[in-house]
Amino acid sequence: MRKVFINIRELLQVRSNRQKKVAGDAMKTLPKIDNAFLIVENDRISDFGSMTDFKAQNGDELIDATDRLVLPSWCDSHSHVVYAGNRSQEFVDRINGLSYEDIARRGGGILNSAKTLQNTSEDELFEQSLNRVQHLTKLGTGALEIKSGYGLTVDAELKMLRIIQRIKQETNLKIKATFLGAHALPEKFKSNKTAYIDLIINEMLPKVHQENLADFVDVFCEKGYFDLDDTNRILSAAKRYKLQPKIHVNQFNTFGGVALGVQHNALSVDHLEELSTSDIEALKNSETMPVALPGCSFFLGIPYTPAQQLINAGLPLALASDYNPGSAPSGNMNFVVSLACIKMKMTPEEAINSATINGAYAMGISEHYGSITIGKKANLILTKKMESYHQIPYEFGNLPVEKVMLEGKFFEDL
Ligand code: NIG
Ligand code: FE
Repeated sequence: MRKVFINIRELLQVRSNRQKKVAGDAMKTLPKIDNAFLIVENDRISDFGSMTDFKAQNGDELIDATDRLVLPSWCDSHSHVVYAGNRSQEFVDRINGLSYEDIARRGGGILNSAKTLQNTSEDELFEQSLNRVQHLTKLGTGALEIKSGYGLTVDAELKMLRIIQRIKQETNLKIKATFLGAHALPEKFKSNKTAYIDLIINEMLPKVHQENLADFVDVFCEKGYFDLDDTNRILSAAKRYKLQPKIHVNQFNTFGGVALGVQHNALSVDHLEELSTSDIEALKNSETMPVALPGCSFFLGIPYTPAQQLINAGLPLALASDYNPGSAPSGNMNFVVSLACIKMKMTPEEAINSATINGAYAMGISEHYGSITIGKKANLILTKKMESYHQIPYEFGNLPVEKVMLEGKFFEDL
């Protein structure tokens, strides 16, 4: 049976072909149809157009979208939603004057989450993580990349990645998994980083590959974490298992991580709160998507990724949540889109392009997700009543979402 949205005030992000990403000036346009219809058959978009051209068929299930908008669900290409507990004490410590880096230096931060995760059973960790993902669905996220990286032992990293696979099976979201064994140096290896990198390369990567647990590889390439040589070693080893990189770079310092990512044909380079002209040069003529994580900048009070610098250079940009217990304990993509407009001076068009089609590209799924295109998956947001899509970022902190459809089914019906 066809499910048909009718009287849609604005049908957003309409693309006629399976375009993979938008860049530069093209990001300033968000193609739309006013007073539109959209037809869903099975799990796919089968047709759309102007209401004046709509012909109903017997048996159509009509969804009246009067005064409401329809757009592709958010594609969140960078998250760490599989974690145990929370780090609200560190949040208070930061209010009282410590920096994120101070906290990490005294054994908190990622190592704190790793300790909690290692002491949490697989089922308990699964429950906590699944709850977060289900909440994200209600907020309009329909595709989500999830990283490991709070395990930091062979067993605990594999445990995280298996949980990501369980989430994939138990939900209708499109899930991609990233192996981030190189997230921090475990206490045990404090004076022997090489030995930990050997463990990643010789034990973790082969097991991740054997069990087919990851789509991508990530490294936290940052001062005090993993340097260019470390990152290069890990990415080269991962290439043997066909794991494409999506890396954390330039969160606090710029020292060539972006160029290294591009050299390794990274699908994305994420964070970029710090950005040099040579980083921008490296991204030109590459297929690598820069990804901004404004929720992290907001929560840590660090600079925002200079979006206009990237876009003015003709580059694309994606937005993601970075949902994690230390630097962004929220995965609300509506808020991410608002922040991008308010703090990064992105226009609503640029921000929505970044959080849909470019987000899909940054997780390797834009062939089937991220735009309203015939044949793409019916992963959709039906908004609450509003006059135009400008209200999505404008009413920051409010939820613009009325209903979410994933794979052709409304979330409540799943
Ligand atoms: O993307 N920067 C590295 N990783 C995460 C934060 C991890 C944590 O603090 O738990 C990030 O911000
Ligand atoms: Fe991250």
